[in-house]
Amino acid sequence: MKMKLLFAAFLAFTLSGSLYAQYNPLVIPDTMVGTTFNLTMRDTFTQILTGNQTITGGINGSFWGPTMIWNKGDVVHVNVENRLTDTTTIHWHGMHLPAIMDGGPHQPIPPFTTWSPYWQVDNNAALYWYHPHLHMMAEEQLTMGLGGMIIVRDPIESALALPRTYGVDDIPLALSDRKFDALNQFVVAPYGDSMMTNGVVRAEHTIPAQVVRLRLLDAGTERSYNIGFSDGRTFYVITTDGGLLNAPVPVTRFLLSAGERVEILVNCTGQNGTTVDLRAFNAELTPQVPGGESFAGGPFANALGHINFNILHLNIGAPTTGAIATVPATLTTNTFWAESSAALTRTVTITDSTVGAGGPTFLINHKLFQMDEIDYHVPLDNTEIWEVKSTSGFGHPFHIHDVEFHILTINGVAPPAYQNGWKDVVFIPSNQTVRFIAKFNDYSDSLKPYMFHCHIALHEDLGMMGQFVVGNSPAGIMNKVQNRKMKLYPNPTKGLLYFEMDEQITISKATVINMHGQVVKEFDLNDSKAELNVSTLATGLYFLRLTDKSGGSYIKSYLME
Ligand code: C2O
Ligand code: CU
Ligand code: CU
Repeated sequence: MKMKLLFAAFLAFTLSGSLYAQYNPLVIPDTMVGTTFNLTMRDTFTQILTGNQTITGGINGSFWGPTMIWNKGDVVHVNVENRLTDTTTIHWHGMHLPAIMDGGPHQPIPPFTTWSPYWQVDNNAALYWYHPHLHMMAEEQLTMGLGGMIIVRDPIESALALPRTYGVDDIPLALSDRKFDALNQFVVAPYGDSMMTNGVVRAEHTIPAQVVRLRLLDAGTERSYNIGFSDGRTFYVITTDGGLLNAPVPVTRFLLSAGERVEILVNCTGQNGTTVDLRAFNAELTPQVPGGESFAGGPFANALGHINFNILHLNIGAPTTGAIATVPATLTTNTFWAESSAALTRTVTITDSTVGAGGPTFLINHKLFQMDEIDYHVPLDNTEIWEVKSTSGFGHPFHIHDVEFHILTINGVAPPAYQNGWKDVVFIPSNQTVRFIAKFNDYSDSLKPYMFHCHIALHEDLGMMGQFVVGNSPAGIMNKVQNRKMKLYPNPTKGLLYFEMDEQITISKATVINMHGQVVKEFDLNDSKAELNVSTLATGLYFLRLTDKSGGSYIKSYLME
């Protein structure tokens, strides 16, 4: 009976979004320090709601993963052991590192294997994160709770009088939301009904009456959070994704989109014994911003759309000894590249489309992601302007791997002071153009690509992604030319695949390979085109390799739905 009442109260809370007195203590993820890190990913379960536990994905624990603390300049080794029942990857979001260590879709970790990347940390002090990046599985694996935060420290940040006692005056906050079914299990859906702060529903935390640093990460699959406080107080933005701003920027709102991070200072000096709520003021968002829509029904319907809701209830307690009492006047001196130093401008188009599975989707450069097609060859050491031009009716958080960039203009206007820093995700508002500049130095590799994509997991999974290699790469170009001779459709397919080669190429064998690299089907052929029946294969991502009479091979990926 009591359980039923609690569940009813929970339902009432999630459905109305209103505030019930009942809070749960915020979980602060454990930290790991040093230069060697062992992460084990598992299918496990967590008590999130009253009643049934929820099946979750955990990294060294039952939900989410530890916060790794890295020092700029250190060589870090990470052993990622996959004990999940599914293939996965772990991507180091925001890190500048060799493409082969990046953990994107090209570095799958099959079940019961360990992947051990290592590199020298080169990023500025800030909040970064790690998360699965298996193509077409990002939404599901993020929903399970797989991921974690990374705090990079460096001498510049360490010399500043900033709060940095983890969990005390320096609070890491991973924001996401979930939809639960009647058995308390996660539903893989673009939007959830319950706000989850570090995996906790209706979270509360006690912070000391002094300057407190909140490190915010939008770890969700779609929703943006229009961050502010219940009493409308001013807070201070001190970092963008990839480092400190020149000086703290006072604001009352900050729009945080999927994949983005921001560190803020909030001054609670003299407020011992009071409370304040960190909130998402999403009722202020337009329907073109993820989370600003309200749906009457359908797969996107959720209890948090276009309303204001709590992220964290804060109780303000006694100050600590050595408390930081003031917000510093300056932080660092950033030097960004001049526009005139760019060797070229690449135009990246974002469009709405009806191509692909399940109705309307979103495209980058008018095409769906192809695992084996390199979209850009970026010469090593090139400074480039990327002009991301959207004619989409919806806004998209655009993310690029390998580099931190600097925003030049958002629809022709210089970015506001709180975005005038190092970024790796930028929100591209509906029908607007964003230009940013970046330099692609180090780690030339003609074969292993870096990704760029929308960080809304569903959009990314449906193919709103592209890839680039750094370095002049004859091999890569040859690859693409080679694959241009091969046409494969429809993609996705429900069971029949057609390929077509240039007429003079006769294919003698077609091989279907799964994501684990295993051959799952073979066809003996003698033609430049054919129809292949692959309907017996399960849904998922496959590669079709065609071999010609002289042993030449051509490969393309396709999706079985
Ligand atoms: Cu946070 Cu390509 O990812
Ligand atoms: Cu990334
Ligand atoms: Cu998108």
